[in-house]
This record gives sequence, C-alpha cells and structure tokens, in this order.
Amino acid sequence: MCGIVGYVGGTASAPILVDGLRRLEYRGYDSAGLAVHGPKSIEVRRAVGKLRNLETALSERPLQGNVGIGHTRWATHGRPSEVNAHPHVAGPVAVVHNGIIENHLELRKRLVEAGCKIASDTDTELVAHLVHLEVERGKDLESAVRAALGEVQGAYAIAVLSSLEPHRIVVAKSSSPLVVGLGDEGENFCASDIPALLPYTKKMLFLEDGEMAVLEASSVRVTTLEGKVVERAPRVIDWSPVMAEKAGYKHFMLKEIFEQPRALEDTFRGRLDRESGDIHGHEIGLSDDDARAIRRVVLLACGTSHHAALTGRYFLESLAKIPTTIEIASEFRGRDAVICEGDLVIAVSQSGETLDTLVAAKEAKAKGAKILSIVNVIDSAIPRMSDATFYTHAGPEIGVASTKCFSTQVANMLMFAIWLGRRRDALSADKAAELVEGLARLPQMMADVLTGTRQLVANLARRYVEARDVLFLGRGLSFPIALEGALKLKEISYVHAEGYAAGEMKHGPIALIDNRVPVFVLLPKDSHHERSLSNLQEAKAREAIVIGIATEGDEEARAVSDDLVEVPDVAEELTPFLTVLPLQLYAYYVADFKGTDVDQPRNLAKTVTVE
Ligand code: M6R
Repeated sequence: MCGIVGYVGGTASAPILVDGLRRLEYRGYDSAGLAVHGPKSIEVRRAVGKLRNLETALSERPLQGNVGIGHTRWATHGRPSEVNAHPHVAGPVAVVHNGIIENHLELRKRLVEAGCKIASDTDTELVAHLVHLEVERGKDLESAVRAALGEVQGAYAIAVLSSLEPHRIVVAKSSSPLVVGLGDEGENFCASDIPALLPYTKKMLFLEDGEMAVLEASSVRVTTLEGKVVERAPRVIDWSPVMAEKAGYKHFMLKEIFEQPRALEDTFRGRLDRESGDIHGHEIGLSDDDARAIRRVVLLACGTSHHAALTGRYFLESLAKIPTTIEIASEFRGRDAVICEGDLVIAVSQSGETLDTLVAAKEAKAKGAKILSIVNVIDSAIPRMSDATFYTHAGPEIGVASTKCFSTQVANMLMFAIWLGRRRDALSADKAAELVEGLARLPQMMADVLTGTRQLVANLARRYVEARDVLFLGRGLSFPIALEGALKLKEISYVHAEGYAAGEMKHGPIALIDNRVPVFVLLPKDSHHERSLSNLQEAKAREAIVIGIATEGDEEARAVSDDLVEVPDVAEELTPFLTVLPLQLYAYYVADFKGTDVDQPRNLAKTVTVE
C-alpha cells in the first residue's frame, strides 16, 4: 500500500514525480503529496483524494527544483486528510513512507516527551522527527537516517530529503518494496514499483531488506543499514513504458482483459515443449527426483490469487495425483499449521508483496518447507525468499481488479501440474501432449471469445445493472471461476455477489433466489455438466434470471437459460481460461455503467502490504 517516488537530476522534478505517482496510484489514492528542494528550503504540496487534486494544487502553487520526493497514500494510521498526507516534515527533514511502523505508540510517547510537536496521526511523521533529532545532534543525513531506523520496528520503504543537503535523497527499505532507477543523463530515481520508472530508465537496482542508498544526480551508493558497502549490478527490465499505458482503452482493466491472449503467449514462451508434449520446467527448481519425493503440496494465496490456486488444487490432484491443500494465507499465519517432511509450499501472488502471503510463506519456510512461488513482479519480496520462482510474465497489471494475472497464474498452475504429473508417472504422455497442444492454441481462442462475447455481455450488464444481488455457480474447475466472477463484480461495482459451489446452493443460498436475482451458472461440457445443468434448472424453478456460460452448441443449456454465453469446446482443464472471460467483462461493464472508479475502486489498493 502507498507508493513512493523520488528524483534527483538536472531537470524540474515535480512533473517527473507526478508522472511517477500516476503510475503508482494503483497502490493507494487517499491523498498525494510532493516535497521538492526549492531555491531556499524544502517546499511541500499535499492534497486529499486522487492525484488530480494534487495537480490542481501544483498548478496554483508550482514547485521549482531538481530534487524531490512524492507519495500516494492508502491510509493506515490516521484518516485521509491533508495533515496526514505525506511528505511529513520535521525541521529541515521531509519523509515519504510506504509500510507500517509497529512500535509507533512507544516512539510517539518518547518524541512528545522530547518536546517534538507532532502534527499528524501518522506513523511516518515519527520517522521524520527521529531523523531530525539525529541531524540536530550533528549527523549528516545518511548517518541520521541510519541511526533513526535503528529505533524503528516494522515495514518501511522511505525516501528522505534534508534542506541541509539539497543534492541528495536517502532511501531505505525493510519489507516494503523499493526500486532504484539508474538514469543515463546525470539523473537517478527511486520508486515503489517498476512501472513508475519505465519512461525514464530500464536499468534498475532492487534494494534488499536492511539496505539503504544515497542517490545523487551522478551516483548511487548502496549500503546495509550497518554501513557495509553493497555492490550489486543493475537489472535491465524488458517491460516497455507502453505496457503501463491504457493504449486507447477507457480503463486499464479493460485493456488488461483484452491483453490476456498476449499475456498468455508470454507466459508460455519457452515453456511449452510441443514436440515432446511436455513442459520445460528448469525454473521450477526441482530435479526429477525432487518431484517424485514431494508428499504434499500446500498452496498459499489471497484474493484472486487464491482462486487461481484453487484451480491449481484440481490440476495437481487430477494430473499429478498429489495430495494438495490450499490455504488463505492470512488464515495459515500463526495457526500452527503442520508442515511435514516432503511438503512443497507454493505461494501465489501477482505483486509478490502481499504481506499475508509473504509472512505465511516465511512461516512455512521456517518450518522446513521448500518454497516455490508463482509471481508476476520480478524480484519482489516473495521471489526473494523463495527457493525458486515460476514467473507469470503477464507484464505490469495496473487495474486494481486482477484479470490477466489470474489467467497467467492458472496457466502456471496447469503447466506445473503437467510437469509434475509426467515426472511422477501420474500423467500419460498422450494426455500431457493433448494439454500442451491445447495450451498453445488457447491465446487465439481467448481472443475470439473476447471479441465474440463483448457486445453480448455488455448488453447483459446494461440489462441487469440494477440487480442488488448476483450469484455465480460452478462445479469442479468452474467453482473457482464462480468465486472469481463474484469477486470481480463486488470489488469494482460494489454489487453484492456470491460465488458458490453449485452443489452447495441447495444447502442455503438457494433461499436468496427470486425473480430479481441474476444467477450465472458455469456449465461447460465437462465431467460435471449434467449436475450443473440440474442446478441451473433448480435456480430457474425459483424464478431466477439464469445466465448460462456453456460450450458452443449446448442446446440443453440454451433451452433452460434466459441468456446464454457460449465458449468453444476445449479439454476440461482448459475451460477456466475461457469461462472467466465473460465474467470479467460483465463485472467491467456493470461498473462502467454504474460509473464507479473501475481502476481504483474504493477502499482497495493493488498491493496489500498490511495485515
Ligand atoms: O498481489 P497478490 O496477487 O498477492 O494480491 C492478492 C489480492 O490482494 C488480490 O488478488 C486482490 O484480491 C485483487 N484486488 C483481486 O482483483
């Protein structure tokens, strides 16, 4: 949560900082602010709400100066208000921060006793005061930040300015992400995430926990918090800036829905071995012997990633015949869950920074589990603590509602299950080859479904936009898709929606049904088809408005559905990739017709680094 950005160089910093914040706004949008070294001192502008409010403030009172820091906030300590907005200033020091200072109560008490005047309710302002006290004791900024952080417990990525040292920014990190961008033309950058820096540089240094850096226009020096020099080569990121733009779409979410065929091609590149009908699994970090020695897989994830992991359980049990359990990461933590010898833990996360998933994976690792992660953001916290990472390669996902990352996570789960199934002699060569071939054909099929169903689904969204409750039902692999359809609708349109295992409906939720409730029933031609059809009829008998998501040519489904969305006939394992698409589009269009903020829905943030 929260995004920070910094610039030091030879040109006006404010436009670069605002541009960076725009690309980080998905991390939070309760308030935004900048601090820039002006001709005499540090000047600050802050505004509550979206970035555009800060831009208005800046147009009324521009900031001049070539060194500055910026912040976009997702409120944790203190409600969204100007006084709680970052940057926070104490004496000559200004600080922006992403994270949570855990010992903030004790620090606040101590600072008040020391005579500090604390203006805000935030934990961040306390860091500014701690650094200021160290500067007053005669330390330079780098030493002052180092000393101050010695008193801080919790998660932070911070960027700090001092008007006494107007040519540098000091940054530091523990748990929260921080990337340093190395510019070519006498300028350097920092940010919470890669997309903020893409228009300026592709050369990036990823700071590790317990490291800090001093950024000047012509140098970047990285050290540990203890002062030991760190030598690390930058990585060149091959994402293009255009990947983080809307490219003519009204919203990032719509662009990302339509990007799925391309994203999957990237996910499959170098991994599908069509000749031998197998998966190239070198990134999985397991030898064939390791694969055979696994006794159980434990999947950890949150939100949409949890739904992708649920599909993974089906794949792993049916294709690799391996016992698989799945945990909501926040419920795994601190529960004293049992990890046994031979357990492989898979952490699934788009951002690679979700605190619940990160901490759960760390707990599992401490208990002796080997950790494989399925993550999108390169070199983020979860890959760094994992034994191996099977990246999704979906490219930057900006919309808060995850779409292309879901499909690519499901793809990685399926590829992993095929790879494991072959090594464990649980999956026949023919079936593996059929699936590999099917995966290779999926991107084109997904593109066809998207273009073929877009208008129909938009019409459905228009017709049912006022529905107050919506149900999504599915069995087998369609159950996680039902959950995902409901989550998408809830999070961006604020409509109450429930995803249910279709067979469970009769045990309670059927009572919700009347003639005002649209019920989406996922019933592709799979091993559950007949029973799903019965569930559809049960909903219909209670006068629900029934929308079937079915295989092309399914006349039975057509006969009993009020509306039918058809997808091509594919192997059962591939159905989730197609059936999820109309549900993503439905959620998108309902939200768009309602006029909600599709890419930045209320109360949410893209990366959830709080518990
Ligand atoms: O970055 P992660 O995949 O770990 O994030 C997990 C959830 O916070 C995320 O999937 C969330 O549920 C999305 N808003 C869903 O669209």
